[in-house]
Amino acid sequence: MTKACKYILVHILETLVTCVFHEDCILPCSFLPTGAVVIHWYKQQIPVHSFYYRQDQFGLQNKHFSGRTSLFNPQIAQGNASLVLRKVKVQDRGRYKCYTSTRKGNQETFVNLSVKALIQMVKVDIIEEEVICQAQNIYPLPQLYWSTEPPTDLNNLYNHTRKTADSKGLFTIESTITILGNISQHVYFCSVVSGDRSQVWTASVKQQDKFGEEGNKLFIPCMLPQPQHNFTLTWTFIKTTEPIIIFTYDSRSQRITNSWEKKAKLDIQQAYTGNGSLTLLHPESSVHTGFYTCTLSSFQMKHQVHTWVNITVPRTGTII
Ligand SMILES: *[C@@H]1O[C@H](CO)[C@@H](O)[C@H](O)[C@H]1NC(C)=O
Ligand SMILES: *[C@@H]1O[C@H](CO)[C@@H](O)[C@H](O)[C@H]1NC(C)=O
Ligand SMILES: *[C@@H]1O[C@H](CO)[C@@H](O)[C@H](O)[C@H]1NC(C)=O
Ligand SMILES: *[C@@H]1O[C@H](CO)[C@@H](O)[C@H](O)[C@H]1NC(C)=O
Ligand SMILES: *[C@@H]1O[C@H](CO)[C@@H](O)[C@H](O)[C@H]1NC(C)=O
Ligand SMILES: *[C@@H]1O[C@H](CO)[C@@H](O)[C@H](O)[C@H]1NC(C)=O
Ligand SMILES: *[C@@H]1O[C@H](CO)[C@@H](O)[C@H](O)[C@H]1NC(C)=O
Repeated sequence: MTKACKYILVHILETLVTCVFHEDCILPCSFLPTGAVVIHWYKQQIPVHSFYYRQDQFGLQNKHFSGRTSLFNPQIAQGNASLVLRKVKVQDRGRYKCYTSTRKGNQETFVNLSVKALIQMVKVDIIEEEVICQAQNIYPLPQLYWSTEPPTDLNNLYNHTRKTADSKGLFTIESTITILGNISQHVYFCSVVSGDRSQVWTASVKQQDKFGEEGNKLFIPCMLPQPQHNFTLTWTFIKTTEPIIIFTYDSRSQRITNSWEKKAKLDIQQAYTGNGSLTLLHPESSVHTGFYTCTLSSFQMKHQVHTWVNITVPRTGTII
């Protein structure tokens, strides 16, 4: 019986609040208003914010919270003692006490604050014989998983994962695997999953070679794992150093740009099924030999296909 009561009491008195890193956050607290009130917010024993004699009092405030706290002053008279904490830091997580005192009595309530820094991006690159996946500025520690298409025994993917925290307490996760035989035979997928499993970001990479002959249509395949709803598709080309954007499509605005209008074509209807392949219409060796990248980005996903294209000149001079 008493156990059950205790359980309920803890739930009434302790509120769980999850704040997003570097954003503002509200720690709720209310009291029965009866005239003058004294409000003290503490984190463990550390003074966070005080209010008495009808005004904010910063004399005892801990430096860590300096300039980052306020109350909803016009609403204090209505019993609102909620605290605003600005630019939340990882170090702000923990248990906060809201103490209020009026002539009717004193009250203590607790807020358990946790912090999360969302995954913003996952990057995969192929560097020589290795595939590297990286995600940064995340809290709490995320998890990282590899897979391939077609599937392979994951035990064959030697992986080396490093997790580091910066001075702000945010994590970077980086993992390296060694490629399996011939690079062009697999698509490599890397997924990063947030600590609370609410976010999953996936990036993939594939690398292939493609040979063509000058003047003959050349098809550069770019097949993506699944059809997407909202996506952007981009083709870039690097001849020597400077990448140029050949083609872009945004499914939301349905806007197409094709800077190789007469030289390349892409079937937009196919793009919706996950086929972003490009056709070079009359390739020239000196112009179109180079490195092509097809990128498809959509919600929490990014897929890339890198193709090294070599256009050769057919033998000239006919033997009579
Ligand atoms: C206090 O006031 C703010 C601003 O209107 C509001 O967002 C918050 O929910 C209120 N909190 C309580 C506990 O009444
Ligand atoms: C706060 O909440 C977290 C997550 O639910 C929990 O792990 C932690 O023990 C709680 N801390 C306190 C002081 O209650
Ligand atoms: C990678 O390494 C970790 C720890 O060393 C292991 O738990 C995991 O199963 C490995 N494989 C893949 C494919 O992530
Ligand atoms: C890799 O595989 C592709 C297609 O299967 C083939 O065209 C290419 O020659 C292979 N490359 C090597 C280095 O074996
Ligand atoms: C696609 O984007 C539109 C406009 O931003 C949005 O209304 C819609 O919910 C999105 N659909 C999906 C499946 O994400
Ligand atoms: C992909 O689209 C191209 C047209 O851009 C088409 O020729 C090709 O057959 C398509 N491939 C698949 C597998 O659907
Ligand atoms: C393209 O292929 C030809 C024939 O295989 C080769 O001689 C040439 O070096 C290649 N060009 C480049 C830039 O790799």
